[in-house]
Amino acid sequence: MSYENILVETRGKVGLITLNRPQALNALNSAVLGELLVATKAFDADDSIGAIVLTGSEKAFAAGADIKEMQSKTYVDAYLGDLLSGWDDFARTRKPIIAAVAGYALGGGCELAMMCDFIIAGDNAKFGQPEITLGIMPGMGGSQRLTRFVGKSKAMDMCLTGRMMDAQEAERSGLVSRIVPVGELVEEALKAAAKIASFSLPAILMNKEAVNRAYEMSLTEGLRFERRIFHSLFALEDQKEGMAAFAEKRKPEFRNK
Ligand code: HXC
Repeated sequence: MSYENILVETRGKVGLITLNRPQALNALNSAVLGELLVATKAFDADDSIGAIVLTGSEKAFAAGADIKEMQSKTYVDAYLGDLLSGWDDFARTRKPIIAAVAGYALGGGCELAMMCDFIIAGDNAKFGQPEITLGIMPGMGGSQRLTRFVGKSKAMDMCLTGRMMDAQEAERSGLVSRIVPVGELVEEALKAAAKIASFSLPAILMNKEAVNRAYEMSLTEGLRFERRIFHSLFALEDQKEGMAAFAEKRKPEFRNK
């Protein structure tokens, strides 16, 4: 597959996807979505890949859904075409995705970063849900995910005023896991992804699945789910290897079994 709007590379066990529509500050149109889905599905299917990094440029992770593509749509177009629903497929990627965010992550760009598993921000990152300034509202999960990340007060502030949050405020409020100098952003994200990818693939996926259940279930059901898949890990050779390596004071050699 040749891509026109994204760059796709592998670095060891890590898949790196770079949004590459600089003329529109990486605005997310249907072509970008289509290519992202092909790339993430291919990484999901590739057993040699353990984690994915998604990044943009230093100026913009993504400045939103493509306003010019949406501009002339009618209600019927949006409803019958189930506008933006394809992004749910991106959010269903099974391998961990780190969003490495520099510059603008606005509207759909902020929502895309929140669909990833965690966000590492460059020190120039700016997050916002400015849809209200266009006469609309978040449509790729912003009103729900942002509220879970930062709480009601700040989510309301962001969605109702359309103001941006800088990297420091985003870290303070729990939207991003850490801030790094923008020049080191991609390398730092790749390092974190390589660390993840060095572990046992079934354990990586089960950790991701279990944390995500915290958003969907009650505490009681979530704890039960965690306990069940925790037990299942004892069926893995990698569990035996990981614990034997600890006891023998050596590095484990995981074989994804
Ligand atoms: C389409 C976009 C775009 C977008 C920028 N561009 N954002 N095109 N959709 N979301 C284009 C501009 O039109 C311009 O093209 C080029 O990218 C460079 O942008 P400038 O505005 O000239 O850059 P700058 O002055 O540096 O300002 C940067 C900016 C501004 C503050 C990020 O571009 C901006 O406000 N963009 C829109 C942000 C936004 O409202 N996002 C939410 C979108 S709605 P030309 O051809 O003129 O050079 C959304 C909905 C989500 O995401 C789902 C619910 C429906």
